[in-house]
This record gives sequence, C-alpha cells and structure tokens, in this order.
Amino acid sequence: MTSSTALNPPLDTNLWSQNHLAHVEQALTLWVGDGAPAGLGDAMRYAVLDGGKRLRPLLVLAAYEAARSGSSDSAAPEGAALDEAALRAACAVELIHAYSLVHDDMPCMDNDVLRRGKPTVHVQFGEAQALLAGDALQAFAFELLTPDNTLIPAATQAALCRLLARAAGSAGMAGGQAIDLASVGVALTEAQLRQMHRLKTGALLQGSVLMGALCGHAAPAAYEALSDYGAAMGLAFQVVDDILDVVADSATLGKTAGKDAAADKPTYVSLLGLERAQAYAQELLAEAHAALGRSGLPDTRALAALADMVVRRSH
Ligand code: IPE
Ligand code: IPE
Ligand code: MG
Ligand code: MG
Ligand code: MG
Repeated sequence: MTSSTALNPPLDTNLWSQNHLAHVEQALTLWVGDGAPAGLGDAMRYAVLDGGKRLRPLLVLAAYEAARSGSSDSAAPEGAALDEAALRAACAVELIHAYSLVHDDMPCMDNDVLRRGKPTVHVQFGEAQALLAGDALQAFAFELLTPDNTLIPAATQAALCRLLARAAGSAGMAGGQAIDLASVGVALTEAQLRQMHRLKTGALLQGSVLMGALCGHAAPAAYEALSDYGAAMGLAFQVVDDILDVVADSATLGKTAGKDAAADKPTYVSLLGLERAQAYAQELLAEAHAALGRSGLPDTRALAALADMVVRRSH
C-alpha cells in the first residue's frame, strides 16, 4: 500500500485511463503525418495510430497529476499552459516509442513481421519508407514540444526536449539497442543485462515520468522519488517483456512470440529462469511503490495503478 491509497479513495483506473487516452488519441490523430509528402504520412500514421497500450503517455499524465497534487500553485493561472505541455509531452514520447518500434522491427535489427497485431511498417511500406517514417516521427516529437504561439515557458520547452533527447539517445534507448545487438549469443552478467534493459526500455519509461513531473513542477525531493519510481517500473517493464516473449502467444501479444530465444538474445528468462524472473519483476514493483510512498505527494494513485499494470499485464 502506498501513502496515496491511505489518503484517497480507490481510483477507477479504467475510467482514468479512458479519459486520458481519449485526449492523447485525439491529439495524435490530428497531428501525426499531417502534410507529409510521397506516402510518408501514411507510414507515420500506420506506425502510431490504431494500436499500442500508450503506457508512456499515461505515465507522463499520471506523473503530471501526481506532481500537481503536491503543488501549492495547482490552481495557478498558468495551469492551461502546463496541461498543454503535459499533453504535448505525452504525445512526443509516444512518437519516440513508435519510431523505436519501427526501427527495432526492421531486418537489420530484430527482423519482425508483426507489430500491434498488424504487419510491421517495413513489411507494409518497404524498408526505406520505414526508415524515413522513424526519422520523421523522431523529429516531429521535438517539434511538438516547441510549438508556435504557446504560453508554455521557453525554459519548460527546452527542459522537456533535453529529458526526451537523453532518454532516446546514446545514453538511453539508442545506446541500449546497440548493446542489445552486440549481445546476440553473448552470456551477459546480471549487471550487464540490467544495464542493457535500463537503457533500451527503462530510460524512455523513466523519461516519461520525469517529463510529467517537470510539467507539474514537482519539488526536488518529489522529483527524485518519481525518478526512482520510473527506474524501477521501467526495468520491470522489460523484465516482463522478456517473460511474455516466453509465456504468451503471438495473437495475444500482437507481435511474434518466442523471438528472443530464436534470435539467441540474452533476457531475464534466459539468465534467471522463468520463476526468478517473475519474482524479480515483483521485487521491482515493490520498489516502485516504495518510491511513491517516499515522494510525499498526496495523490500517486494513477502512478501506482500503472506500475501494477506493467507487471500484471498479459500483453
Ligand atoms: C514494446 O513496448 C517494446 C518494448 C520497449 C519492450 P510496448 O509493450 O509498450 O508496446 P506497445 O506500445 O503497447 O505496442
Ligand atoms: C525493444 O525491445 C526495445 C525498443 C524498441 C527500444 P524488444 O526488441 O524486446 O521489443 P519487442 O519485444 O520487439 O517489442
Ligand atoms: Mg529489439
Ligand atoms: Mg524487438
Ligand atoms: Mg521483447
């Protein structure tokens, strides 16, 4: 139990997610691929729309609300600008995630043909268009964070760009993907595997939490605690991804099951075995909840529910 559950009535998580997802879907549908030439817009929209759990946008919005719940200026007039910043950050991180999936699935990386229950982007549109769709989604993420005619303070825009760039770049997702590719057939130590997972997947999930915390003006101690929450939950996410690759089927996952063993990738299941990998995911979940308890924020219910979802999900 976290401090949030002691102080607040239980959250209707489904309703909370539906309400927030509606805003994200509407914004993504409006913005993605608009005006892109020569079929590029179609590939971008195919990569982003109609699929995905949208966990990262939900984390941005949940962290934003948690931070605002602890802020004495939560009814301040700049609230609308902060709401806009959080929605843009939520969409931007999903664009980076979608781009990472497009490239992850390409023949030069994991060579997957199924994603979100559909043929992968390179199967549908060709490799060159998939490469470009990923490139364009990445660039558009940063454009979304720096709009014209906005009340979002310039310093907030810059700080959001920096957080997202760090999470996506060589110290985050791209670096982790490089380690992943270099580790095929290699017996990594637990510390090496943890580092790979923290970078390739954890960084963007933690970055989502930090972007929300930044938009909500979290105080330094709360920001640190949310960062710890993001690190534990982000690692748990990839541990569970490794487990699902073994225990779930392709129809449920919407992507090809059993790929990690077939490609000889080191995973938590290959290193620890299924049972210990599952126990480790539970340990990380407890760490995530403990960090929320330390945050001192009055309402972390949505973040708590999302961490539970990360570990208990079926796909
Ligand atoms: C899959 O992420 C890729 C990893 C980082 C392991 P998700 O499981 O969040 O994929 P979608 O967005 O729901 O399709
Ligand atoms: C993907 O890890 C991480 C990124 C896309 C950055 P995986 O290769 O395990 O993801 P899935 O299983 O294909 O979704
Ligand atoms: Mg991969
Ligand atoms: Mg993959
Ligand atoms: Mg995987």
